[in-house]
Amino acid sequence: MNPEGKVALVTGGSSGIGRATALLLAEAGASVVVADIDGEGGAETVSLIEQAGGKAAFVESDITKREELERMVAFAEETYGGLDILHNNAGIALPPPRFPDTPAERWEQALAVNLWAVIAGTQAAVPAMRRRGGGVIVNTASIAGVTQYLPDAIYAATKHGVVGLTRALAFLKGEANIRVNCVCPGVVDTPMLTKLIPELTAEQRAQREALVRSMPLIPPREIAEAVLEFVRDDSLAGEAMGVIYGRPRKLIPPAVSFRRDPTQRMPN
Ligand SMILES: NC(=O)c1ccc[n+]([C@@H]2O[C@H](COP(=O)([O-])OP(=O)(O)OC[C@H]3O[C@@H](n4cnc5c(N)ncnc54)[C@H](O)[C@@H]3O)[C@@H](O)[C@H]2O)c1
Repeated sequence: MNPEGKVALVTGGSSGIGRATALLLAEAGASVVVADIDGEGGAETVSLIEQAGGKAAFVESDITKREELERMVAFAEETYGGLDILHNNAGIALPPPRFPDTPAERWEQALAVNLWAVIAGTQAAVPAMRRRGGGVIVNTASIAGVTQYLPDAIYAATKHGVVGLTRALAFLKGEANIRVNCVCPGVVDTPMLTKLIPELTAEQRAQREALVRSMPLIPPREIAEAVLEFVRDDSLAGEAMGVIYGRPRKLIPPAVSFRRDPTQRMPN
């Protein structure tokens, strides 16, 4: 799909990867709806897009609430006349203590933002995309969704869920001309890396800061470019793309595969 003249919605668009994607989609000619709980960051993203000559609007949405997901899709339709591209991107990491010592409300919130909202956001967007004759959904998973990720079991579980959901929705390409794919970034230079620092002890904080400083960080724009590749390449559906520092981005096939034609599925 050529994004020129299309309508895109980016969750978590007030910061980091979402902001970079919103900017790149607008540069490519899409009208962009920025959805986030952070109104200040959202206004800044909109202003950056407008300064660059693009079109954007902000809608305050808590993506863990079904009615707010439906409202953000309706907002795109009312503001720009439809919805063609959805970037299910907002996500959160968990501070220590690690699971199973994590308080239940913490891991439940991570599950809600990182996985439930991707499922519910997709369900909210598909009818709008059907009205347009098709669309593209790009989810932000993580390399933690395709590897053994020891630092945060809940984060790993949610991101594996996003990859599994994405691959299983390959059939939507044939059925509704909707292509669902996901990006799996390594460590990206965004506020997520330091957001949890105020909640850490002095020792944990020092460890975290040293770790972040020692790691080669991917610029968010590189993840946005991977998202744009999924938008533009009409052949890609049900795919997960790894974006690792210093390596060319590439599709990650499932470890085990038994269906030959990913566009086919069991009868409804
Ligand atoms: N930064 C990394 O190293 C990295 C690596 C792999 C994957 N990711 C994933 O990339 C995505 C974006 O993360 P980022 O690094 O840009 O982080 P970020 O913290 O910069 O941005 C996340 C955005 O999501 C928003 N958000 C959080 N909860 C929300 C809610 N309930 N409703 C609406 N918006 C909400 C935040 O306000 C923020 O603007 C996440 O899914 C994250 O898991 C990040």
